[in-house]
Amino acid sequence: MGQPRGRGAPDQESGSMKPKVLVTRKVFPEVLERLGAHFELEVNDTERPWTADELLARVQDKAGIYLTPTNRVDAAVLDAGPGLKVVANMAVGFNNIDVAACTARGVLCTNTPDVLTETTADFGFALLLAAARRLTESERFLRAGQWRNWSFDMMMGREVHGSTLAILGMGRIGQAIARRGAWGFGMQVIYHNRSRLPADTEAALKATHVSKEALLRQADHLMIVLPYSAETHHAVGAAELALMKRSATLTNIARGGVVDDAALAGALRERRIAAAALDVFEGEPQVHPALLDLPNAVLTPHIASATVQTRRAMAQLAADNLIAGLGCGPQAGRPPTPLNPQVLAQGG
Ligand code: GLV
Repeated sequence: MGQPRGRGAPDQESGSMKPKVLVTRKVFPEVLERLGAHFELEVNDTERPWTADELLARVQDKAGIYLTPTNRVDAAVLDAGPGLKVVANMAVGFNNIDVAACTARGVLCTNTPDVLTETTADFGFALLLAAARRLTESERFLRAGQWRNWSFDMMMGREVHGSTLAILGMGRIGQAIARRGAWGFGMQVIYHNRSRLPADTEAALKATHVSKEALLRQADHLMIVLPYSAETHHAVGAAELALMKRSATLTNIARGGVVDDAALAGALRERRIAAAALDVFEGEPQVHPALLDLPNAVLTPHIASATVQTRRAMAQLAADNLIAGLGCGPQAGRPPTPLNPQVLAQGG
């Protein structure tokens, strides 16, 4: 493990004593104001994310990065920014940060858990319902002037209440989905996770742990909430889709890359599963072209946590982390949600 990085010296040219911080995308003005009280900010106020090279060029003299999922912090960024001490991600998912490389260099990483759990679970359920009940397909049909008459078999979907909800990944958001399914919709909840929940938590959620194969075979509605990593890359691909019922739906609110989008598009096109709802995509904001033409795919642009209240809470929590992580404010040295707290123990 490397040495913690020391506090920055006053900037020679500007004479400012404030540490310099990079803000990689626009964020709420009140959050920028808070950050600006402690730091000298360089903000990307364009509508376009910085490229990797643009980030590298800007990081040289910075002590912190206020990061959003569109930019990546890896060894190259850390090498280009020898004074970096804190990387504060405005997201719960942190596959855009090489946490091991940060830890090795004594750089603190933080994310924004908890504040988005319920909102993301709400949206996951909205997507599940939309896929099962053909909501966006029906709306497109109506807007296109194709609705002529009531018909007994028009836009028939799949039952949600009383069906089997299969959750892949059972962290905070998975558990919030389980509660909605079990208590709100009377669903039978099964889940698969690397580690099994304690018995009392399973009982409270009315959730049963099963093997991954059983999960896929029994799912009426598969909800994917796994964090993305090398181990979870294409956790649901052609082989997994082949185990699912033809009547099943799949919802991905985790990360692009957990599902093999090309294989999914094939399964949807051939009606090997009934429908899918995706908020995240491999290589987003690009979307696999084969998905775009499919009537049985509900597609949204990575907005599961996007309510006014939740995005504000995420933005403020990321700011709390950066401010405290850089030794400022009332919580100095005690950022609320560190990913590698061992760096704090080193006194970095
Ligand atoms: C959004 O995708 C997040 O990880 O917070």
